[in-house]
Amino acid sequence: VSIISKSINPTNSTILIADISNKSSQKLPENFKIGISTSAYQIEGAWDADGKTPSTWDTLIHSHPELISDGSNADVASDSYHLFKDDISAVNSIGLQFYRFSISWTRILPNGSAINQNGIDYYNKVIDECLANGIEPVVTMFHWDLPQWLQDLGGLPNEIFIDYFVAYADVLFKNFGHKVKRWITVNEPYNYCIISYGFGIWAPAIKSPGVGDYLCGHHLLIAHAKAYRLYREKYFKMFGGEVGITLESPYYIPKDSSVSDKDHQRALQYRLGWFANPLFGTGGYPHVMIDEINERSKVEGRPFSRLPQMSEEVKKLILGSADFLGMNYYTSSLILINKAERDPREEPSWFSDSGVKESADPTWKQAKTFWLYSVPDGLKSLLNWIKNEYNNPPVFITENGWSDEGQMIDDDRIDYVNSHLLAVAEAVNEDQCNVIAYTLWSLFDSFEWNSGYTLKYGFFHVNYSSPTKEKTPKKSVE
Ligand code: NOJ
Repeated sequence: VSIISKSINPTNSTILIADISNKSSQKLPENFKIGISTSAYQIEGAWDADGKTPSTWDTLIHSHPELISDGSNADVASDSYHLFKDDISAVNSIGLQFYRFSISWTRILPNGSAINQNGIDYYNKVIDECLANGIEPVVTMFHWDLPQWLQDLGGLPNEIFIDYFVAYADVLFKNFGHKVKRWITVNEPYNYCIISYGFGIWAPAIKSPGVGDYLCGHHLLIAHAKAYRLYREKYFKMFGGEVGITLESPYYIPKDSSVSDKDHQRALQYRLGWFANPLFGTGGYPHVMIDEINERSKVEGRPFSRLPQMSEEVKKLILGSADFLGMNYYTSSLILINKAERDPREEPSWFSDSGVKESADPTWKQAKTFWLYSVPDGLKSLLNWIKNEYNNPPVFITENGWSDEGQMIDDDRIDYVNSHLLAVAEAVNEDQCNVIAYTLWSLFDSFEWNSGYTLKYGFFHVNYSSPTKEKTPKKSVE
């Protein structure tokens, strides 16, 4: 029996954290929940089945396989479209309380407006299977698989995205709201916008650093807020559920004394504050971002700021439009701030705007992913920063996980999870951080975006060469 499963006492759902760092054992509150997560594109396969049209990921992968390190794709993946019962039985076998998965937009709305009943039927089956097993479905509406038809209209940098997203949210609330009580509108807007519309490496691979990424973020925030307001007005009375958003951030730790406290705070504002300040903070983008990007845009000779303006009305719409703050936490970084003057003729980017230069402490244990180091104290610091900055909102940790070579004896994963759960327990018990849930990433070794199947985050191994995709528990969940 692994430490993870041993640490969950099914009789009263009290979680006992293993004593792994010579600290006394900590208990999490009785109503604290633990679950596990996946996302549609990474596991479903069946990319063109039963009326589904391509997402931007389908398009990118079929036209530019060279962008994926092993040349693979997720056309079949672990075939959750056909084998979802196996997925849920895997969740059930570890005794977790909820399953966070995402919905593929183009299964539901293949062309923009007409609903594809096959898509509705599929997710009804997934949700019903969860409920029949006593597992709460926690549903992400948008985990990066944007409809290609919407990208053809300009995608996230076009404000038309907002209306289409809200219409999609309406369909989801209407069809599944009586069964799904916890919704996450969007997964990781920072990474999605910076990498998809800034660097242009993730689908739809649009390169517009320092411009397209800020527009993407702007429209995502408004779309999120409108979907939230729609739920409150039209569905809350009937269903009583909650709607939040999933952000992500490392904790930034000053590398040396050249990073003043002011610089440190400024860097965190650029990273987490970009999305969290409009939602949970003072409203609107952090002042430092507004002022600095305005100024830079002027120097670059632009007629307006690269960071879109938020009207008072829009600020009001967004502020407070989340019942909880979903947080994906994986790692932390040591930071330096590059204060050198930038040549205004150079292409801008989030990095040149923020000046943040990230590195790792040599003592941190590294996962197989190049950016992933185990820094549990960083999670505790981040939770405390959120508590102080945003008046202690309910934080739902929506992802936390470790990648390796895929070994079945995954001791590093066990250490990672236990040390991070311990950090959460300390933040809750010692610092009164309002953390309500913790989610493991991921149920399976699944399709890891540009890294294909080379990085393994799963608690279950998947036999990809067999049509039945057998899942085998690793030591962490045996
Ligand atoms: C966060 C993303 O939400 C997920 O899709 C991804 O697989 C993990 N990070 C690991 O990189």
